[in-house]
Amino acid sequence: MNYISRARELGGDIAAHRHYLHQHAELSYQEKETTAYLVEQLEKLGIPVKRFDDYTGCIAIIQGGKPGKTVMLRADIDALPIQENSGVEFESIHPGVMHACGHDCHAAMLLGAAQLLWESREELSGTVKLLFQAAEEVFVGSHYYWDKGHLSDVDAALGMHVWPDLPSGTLAVIDGPIMASCDNFTITVHGVSAHGSQPNNGRDAIVAASAIITNLQTIVSRVDDPLHSLVVSIGTIKAGTQFNIITDTAVMSGTVRTHSPEARALVEPAMRQIVQGTAQALGCTAEVEYNYLEPPVINADTALNTIARTAAAKVCGQENVRSCTPAMGSEDFSYLMEKIPSSLFAFLGCWDEEAGCVHPVHNEKFRINEEILPLGAAQYAQFAADYLEQSAGGEA
Ligand code: NI
Repeated sequence: MNYISRARELGGDIAAHRHYLHQHAELSYQEKETTAYLVEQLEKLGIPVKRFDDYTGCIAIIQGGKPGKTVMLRADIDALPIQENSGVEFESIHPGVMHACGHDCHAAMLLGAAQLLWESREELSGTVKLLFQAAEEVFVGSHYYWDKGHLSDVDAALGMHVWPDLPSGTLAVIDGPIMASCDNFTITVHGVSAHGSQPNNGRDAIVAASAIITNLQTIVSRVDDPLHSLVVSIGTIKAGTQFNIITDTAVMSGTVRTHSPEARALVEPAMRQIVQGTAQALGCTAEVEYNYLEPPVINADTALNTIARTAAAKVCGQENVRSCTPAMGSEDFSYLMEKIPSSLFAFLGCWDEEAGCVHPVHNEKFRINEEILPLGAAQYAQFAADYLEQSAGGEA
């Protein structure tokens, strides 16, 4: 099948899917109307779809006409707690909930890909699983489908995100890291309270916390290899009750991002050492709670990346297959990538000044030029068909 030309024919349907999903934006784990709509559309086409009694999202399964491997295509489906102000006609009808990260586009594109692959199923050498994934925005939504065994037969996988750093009409597939890990931590400092005029009678948790904040930056500047990308940020600090009281408790939370598994591994022990040593030096104690959420997104299988780039050239033209700089944001597809080593993540450009699409993701004004939707649908389908063909020994 000529996927891009069929995808363009289906452009109106794909946009209509997106409008429905955008209007019915739902938060992580609450994607009930979204899941019902996806299941209904897939079943209307006759595509077998697996849904779950205890979880949102669904998996469509398309068996090809010829035997072969199993490839998984993934779209996330959840929205964000943001009051929409994008000015589109199909604004979210759910107050305070908006598809500001383009997951409505991803789901609509994957529905389009499902139709493309279903129509061409006799040509396919193997099986395509299309995962409509819940709860990406809360870092762990992807775990369920793997942990429950629904993806254990998958040989290769592709995830994709609309990306405002790249112009509309382009696709980027790069080798190596493309998005960062995301971990978080909470530090609690314990001191001794006293009157604000008599600091010598207390142990000031705020002063200890301040020193800890400053010293933590030495993990980036003095502990880690300077050639790694690494961010250690404190996002919240809560301490004290009144201006004239030396407080005995300070609680801080923050996040750690890196593209490097080595850097990721050294942060927690370095943080514990710095936090405890600094607190102790100032007569306080402190504890660290450290949570590993998402590994970095690393396109490690260069042969698979080549298949995706070749597919992208068929979809949007060689001149529109771009490189890009890795992002420090994170993406929970990385959990599935760890489990399915032959996997990759791609960016679909959505910046378009003329169409007013100039806002970053997670912004209340975020919008896209819908002409990119058929490109995304075709990229999913073309990649799946080409991967199955090549892995069955044919020429893609
Ligand atoms: Ni997103």
